[in-house]
Amino acid sequence: MLRLGQAVLAVAALLPLSSSQKVIPLSGSDWTLSDPGSNVSVPANLPSQAHLDLYAAGIIDDPLFALNEFSQRWVANSNWTYTSAPISGLSSNGSSTWLLFNGLDTFASISFCGKYVASTDNQFRQYWFEISEILSSCGNEADRVLAVNFGSAPEIANQIASQPGQETWPRGVEQVFEFPNRQFIRKEQSDFGWDWGPAFAPAGPWQPAWIVQLGNEEVYVRNSIIDIYRQGQLNLLPPDQSQPWVVNASLDYFGQLPDGASLSYTLTDLQNKTVSSGALSDLNSTDATVTGSATIPDGTVDLWWPSQLGPQNLYYITISLKSSSNSSLASVTKRVGFRTIVLNETPISDAQLAQGIAPGNNWHFDINGHEFYAKGSNFIPPDPFWARVTPQRIEQLFQSVVAGNQNMLRVWASGAYSPDIMYDLADEYGILLWSEFEFGDALYPVDQAFLDNVRQEAEYNFRRVNHHPSLALWAGGNELENLELEIVSEYYGPEALAKYTAEYETLFIGTLLPAVFENSRSISYTPSSTSNGWQSLNFSNPIPIVERYNNSPTVTNGSIYGETDFYNYDPIVLYNNSALPVGRFSNEFGYHSMPSLQSWRQQVAEADLSFNSTTVLLRDHHYPAGGLNTSNIANSSAGQAQMTEAVELWYPTPSKTDSVANFSAWCHATQIFQSDLYNFEIAFYRRGSGLPNRQLGSLYWQLEDQWVAPTWAGIEYDGRWKVLHYTAKDLYEHVIIAPYYNVTTGDLSVWVTSDLWEAVSSTVTFRWYDWSGTQLAVNTSLSANFNVGAINSTEVLQLVTTDVLGDYNLTNVVLHMTVEAESSLPNSADKLTFRHDNWFHPTALKDAQLVDPDLGLTYSNSSKNFTVTATSGVAAWVWLDYGAGAVVHFDSNAFWLLPNQSREVGYTVQSDTTNGGWIDTVTVQSLWDQTQSTTVGSIGNGSSSGGTPTPYTGAAAVKASVSVLALLAAAVVALL
Ligand SMILES: *[C@@H]1O[C@H](CO)[C@@H](O)[C@H](O)[C@H]1NC(C)=O
Ligand SMILES: *[C@@H]1O[C@H](CO)[C@@H](O)[C@H](O)[C@H]1NC(C)=O
Ligand SMILES: *[C@@H]1O[C@H](CO)[C@@H](O)[C@H](O)[C@H]1NC(C)=O
Repeated sequence: MLRLGQAVLAVAALLPLSSSQKVIPLSGSDWTLSDPGSNVSVPANLPSQAHLDLYAAGIIDDPLFALNEFSQRWVANSNWTYTSAPISGLSSNGSSTWLLFNGLDTFASISFCGKYVASTDNQFRQYWFEISEILSSCGNEADRVLAVNFGSAPEIANQIASQPGQETWPRGVEQVFEFPNRQFIRKEQSDFGWDWGPAFAPAGPWQPAWIVQLGNEEVYVRNSIIDIYRQGQLNLLPPDQSQPWVVNASLDYFGQLPDGASLSYTLTDLQNKTVSSGALSDLNSTDATVTGSATIPDGTVDLWWPSQLGPQNLYYITISLKSSSNSSLASVTKRVGFRTIVLNETPISDAQLAQGIAPGNNWHFDINGHEFYAKGSNFIPPDPFWARVTPQRIEQLFQSVVAGNQNMLRVWASGAYSPDIMYDLADEYGILLWSEFEFGDALYPVDQAFLDNVRQEAEYNFRRVNHHPSLALWAGGNELENLELEIVSEYYGPEALAKYTAEYETLFIGTLLPAVFENSRSISYTPSSTSNGWQSLNFSNPIPIVERYNNSPTVTNGSIYGETDFYNYDPIVLYNNSALPVGRFSNEFGYHSMPSLQSWRQQVAEADLSFNSTTVLLRDHHYPAGGLNTSNIANSSAGQAQMTEAVELWYPTPSKTDSVANFSAWCHATQIFQSDLYNFEIAFYRRGSGLPNRQLGSLYWQLEDQWVAPTWAGIEYDGRWKVLHYTAKDLYEHVIIAPYYNVTTGDLSVWVTSDLWEAVSSTVTFRWYDWSGTQLAVNTSLSANFNVGAINSTEVLQLVTTDVLGDYNLTNVVLHMTVEAESSLPNSADKLTFRHDNWFHPTALKDAQLVDPDLGLTYSNSSKNFTVTATSGVAAWVWLDYGAGAVVHFDSNAFWLLPNQSREVGYTVQSDTTNGGWIDTVTVQSLWDQTQSTTVGSIGNGSSSGGTPTPYTGAAAVKASVSVLALLAAAVVALL
């Protein structure tokens, strides 16, 4: 991974170059937020959203605490005005003066010097307005006040929905979470509620703004696009990698472009050494854009690769706009990378058929002409309030993504377009961002005004971010074909289906596809995540794609199309291989779990810490309330019940005497189920890389949380990893070994799967034990040689458990399997050893004859490692935990140990307010401890059964600066 020093680099520098040009940033704290209706007037910031300023001023409590989501509805139902202090520094003799907003959320009415300027209705658009005339009649500096009034988005959405002649859809098509009618407005769709988050419908100037003054024949570049592709490349088609790179650059400006302007480029490496420069040719200018292109000479640049597939080589490109007299008009610098990435949906070729790949179409990504296995998860808005998401927050998440062996995130479609900083960081970390236009789980209006508004939003955001090598794809929206059109088809018949499919195509193919293809040759587009891909692609048609419908993304007459999205909340689905969809790629799957006690305590009062307290229940938005009525908690209860049933079906039921300790154990148990299920699903999808469906991607739902609640996340709101993030990291290792079991027939097979780009040959081992760790003389092979091809899988063991385990009680048998192989990462000559191990148990763990493994835990100050040792039994789901006040990621966790086996575990500290004291709070437990009354093993103490049970005291007792070994008692208390 390439790191550019510690600071995050500013990417687009829009330099005011001529002397009369003036750019006054409006960011800062010189603002007031007021609502005449509720008599509130408080200091405010820009960028911001009203809830944040009200919280800072003490008008409201922390919106994320307890049930404040519901008690703060009045904020969303009010109108809010942001008023600036008088703006100084404006010159009255500039030839034009402009307001430039990078984002207003959402229904804004803008005035300057007390005069109306304009209104806006799209959170995602950039807006610029000339105010020269208003300024000229506003001589008094004290009157130069900017005011932006935001109307209530939920109210306005309802008004739009009830307009005469407004579009309607059949019942059930719009997925209503809390506030209704989100599909009528261009605002973050999850602001109106989702099944993993609260509904605040915030309002405010959520992005920076400026006042720009220009002289005669001066321009201001408000946005730009740089498109880098292989000569001759067309979207969605694998390009010829031997062709030179083309750079196409286009600047969006306002102001007056003088005749005869020209464009040039300078490409430098990160040491500022120029690697190529020259004029852009094929210039084309309009009154809003100026465009040109250049071919980069062969051999001047190195490729950018995703994490663990090669280096993240980056360059700076500066595009300079000059007048005919060669004076500088504007200049834009963006950091870029040279790569091709294609969503390959081409028909399976004869050569692929000959390899045993099932007919149908491909559905996978190619990076620089290479297939690869996409490993990752789905990214949701990391906070209900984007205005407070810091670069540090994104960077910490991305560190976890890379540490978790993930190379791709699907940035889910109903949040907001990612800020530049997110792509910058993804470029550095090598994380591919599957990006989406912000539509999901609804069908949308298609009147011309709506389409025009969407097109503007798409153009702005598309052009803003296209230069980032981490950009992997644009998708039209979330669950449109597989959910929305399927609902219509299933319940409303062919006529309705024809109507709504035509409307769907108007927006997602007729409007959004050209926004992509007319701006870029380098990036692929698919109208819907999930889909069956295109049926035909022909660039001589104005709309090149014909979409493939009516073909479920599973095997149809042997043909396989598209990617899959799979949820089943009957916990019986665990280990049931025949329940999972067979497709080419999996972009969503999952099950919810509870966050940890440490996280709950950050947002819920101590008295509410029980599994079914009203507060905990009402924060479970799965299933969503379906409206604003919170008195009906049946839906939340159903979601809580799914987690409870899963635990009771598969694992020992927690039985701690202390109620909070028991709550904590239950939260942990739901995380174990979640993780077990995802392990099974990831292993299933990855094995598909060697099966006829040639499955090449696994992106689970969801990476991270935006508050503390039961959700699908693997990373909690403060950055703490759930069990899931650890085990997904393990299952996303390059070479894995995993069991596949049919409970009904007793058929067990074990496969090795590798996503390396060269074949790997080595040996696997198998050992059977009882739970006390005694090796069993089961009559099966102890080892096997294997050869697994590039991005492929191979079976290494097959047996019928009832045959080979006849004499043993299935409740007292476990199989340990290991693989170890030497190979290299793609684009690297270094030889590495790839190791993985896994466990199989033929019965549910709740029925297994678990033995106290008597875990020991020590910490070495010199190596900064913890060592966990099992002594008297097989330890399942060994879990290192730590107290509040820090976020620490262990190098491994949630692993299994044999008796007399130790594991050293290092760690990374992400944040720490305990001054290192967190080390003394570390405890270790395994599944066996879930049913023990209170204690778990802690540092310096091997005993999780012999120690004196320490009752829960309610105190997060952490005493720093005392020696680690002396801290047994404090550590025991801190866990619970
Ligand atoms: C918000 O402003 C609109 C338009 O001026 C007005 O109709 C509405 O009553 C206002 N709402 C509140 C809660 O003040
Ligand atoms: C490259 O140039 C920029 C702008 O002049 C400067 O800030 C940066 O430090 C330079 N980087 C190196 C590695 O010299
Ligand atoms: C110049 O750009 C405009 C607007 O994008 C386009 O319609 C026109 O075809 C372009 N002209 C040339 C010569 O490329």
